[in-house]
Amino acid sequence: MTNLQRAAEALRAFKKVVFFTGAGISAESGIPTFRDKLTGLWTKHEPQRLETANAFRENPALVWSWYLWRRHHVGQAKPNPAHYSVSQLAVAGWDVSVVTQNIDDLHERAGSSPVIHLHGSLMDVKCFACHRPGTLASAQLETPEEEQLIEPPRCARCGGKLRPGVVWFGENLPENSWRSAVRRVKSCELLVSVGTSGVVMPAAAIPDMALAAGATVIHVNIEDVGFGGTDEIMLLGSAGMVLPALLKAAGVAV
Ligand code: APR
Repeated sequence: MTNLQRAAEALRAFKKVVFFTGAGISAESGIPTFRDKLTGLWTKHEPQRLETANAFRENPALVWSWYLWRRHHVGQAKPNPAHYSVSQLAVAGWDVSVVTQNIDDLHERAGSSPVIHLHGSLMDVKCFACHRPGTLASAQLETPEEEQLIEPPRCARCGGKLRPGVVWFGENLPENSWRSAVRRVKSCELLVSVGTSGVVMPAAAIPDMALAAGATVIHVNIEDVGFGGTDEIMLLGSAGMVLPALLKAAGVAV
């Protein structure tokens, strides 16, 4: 039996499914993963250096403009067949939740719900000083011109600088999201881990958590990221090809 047939059999047998997704699921929508080189204006910067509280303290305009640019880029992107496969499975009657490390909103735009964002969202802002959520007028979200740096807007309550509502390197995951992700992962029958390198903790522990709780785990990646366990199935290939093929092989009517 091929791995695709084994995975299709698991999908037919198990109705409670968690999709655990990383940057690879949005790659075919044109959003670069963390392994890709930055382009254009941002080639001279490394995301790891821009995505920290220290970077924001040192140069708030640079970090704010980087996120305005990313938000613009995501706004132009569209969900791809991998995002649609996830939402189609729910429409076909499976109990589907999405736990994502991505800060884009492509799962939501493909129609999935609930979507738990472990690393926050590009669509949210919060105050760097008082940590309260903030709101922005659309004029404050305009994409910077080449080389233009924009100062972050101010918090309406305390006057502090607003920052993106995402989790930066060295910061804790939002407690509620993490708790609700763990609850779903520990009670699912099947976890499909899509397009994640599995190197950033604690999110990277999620497939192991599902296996330990007795679930089957399917990995979908262009590289072999499986551990070769008996309850694991590795599907090698791009998410936009593999997920529609998996639904088809399982006979899911879409
Ligand atoms: N289909 C499937 N998998 C893909 C595709 C594709 N089209 N393209 C790339 N991949 C895989 C890569 O092989 C890699 O394993 O997606 C993974 C992307 O890895 P990362 O860029 O490390 O993304 P992710 O795992 O989501 O990173 C986790 O790290 O930098 C932090 O906070 C950031 O949320 C991010 C976290």
